[in-house]
Amino acid sequence: MALVSSTPMLKKAQKEKYGVGAFNVHSLDMIYAVTEAAAELQAPVILQTTMGTVQSLGANNIVAAATAASDTYGIPVALHLDHCTDYGLIVQCIRAGYTSIMIDASMHSFEENVSQTNKVMEIAKHLSINVEAELGKVGGVEDNIVVSEQDAQKAVPSECVTFVEQTKIPTLAPAIGTAHGIYTGDPDIDFDRIKEIASLVDIPLVLHGGSAIPDVDVKRCISLGMVKMNVSTELKNTYSRAILEHFNQEPDSLDPRAYLTKAKEAAKALVKAKIKLVGCDYKA
Ligand code: 13P
Repeated sequence: MALVSSTPMLKKAQKEKYGVGAFNVHSLDMIYAVTEAAAELQAPVILQTTMGTVQSLGANNIVAAATAASDTYGIPVALHLDHCTDYGLIVQCIRAGYTSIMIDASMHSFEENVSQTNKVMEIAKHLSINVEAELGKVGGVEDNIVVSEQDAQKAVPSECVTFVEQTKIPTLAPAIGTAHGIYTGDPDIDFDRIKEIASLVDIPLVLHGGSAIPDVDVKRCISLGMVKMNVSTELKNTYSRAILEHFNQEPDSLDPRAYLTKAKEAAKALVKAKIKLVGCDYKA
């Protein structure tokens, strides 16, 4: 099965009021782990990579592995470029076969954010590729993008309306108080803001910083209008900790199949839990 655009996937979820899990993968093995987990629950899935992962693995290799996984497991798989600040890399990933792109110009002025998003929309609209942009500033660390707690800013609902009108983007990531990485305290999620933004714009909204948000809060975010949930840190940590544990217990067991199988099983369990949490199981 060819990779699919996430636009119809997310629109269906928005209409039927469930969420879709979008999982950051950092190795080709993780692509298979996430897709196999989704297939076992017959869930649509979004695989996503940061700019750093594209640079370390290569866009063509990632597309080939994601396409092979989609073929093998027979579920709808979209491949998304997460938090991209580099137009050249966006073009490279689209050429390679990515089906969804996030242009992150949230660190710039509103006008510049609109302008950079429109530049990407210019290509994407002819190719039915999904485009995501961020308004406000999501705090925390995601690869090379670091936003301190003081610099984090929630999205302004009226600006969300203007932004969608001026760019015609198919998905919007408004900052609503979640942060990238693991929280030291409880996340300060502004549920009223989600409700207000969802009532003003008619496109699927994206919840960034999906790691370690209490389950009850994730469910509330989805019931109020968040549709795509991004999970990165929790998956990366779970995968790597399984390898660490393997070597703590069996330091001489050096066959990669031994430790990678444990990492894959741990990653799959986490992905399945998140898929069930957002409610996209059996929606493939
Ligand atoms: P976490 O690392 O907090 O899961 O955030 C993921 C994310 O939003 C990727 O864009």
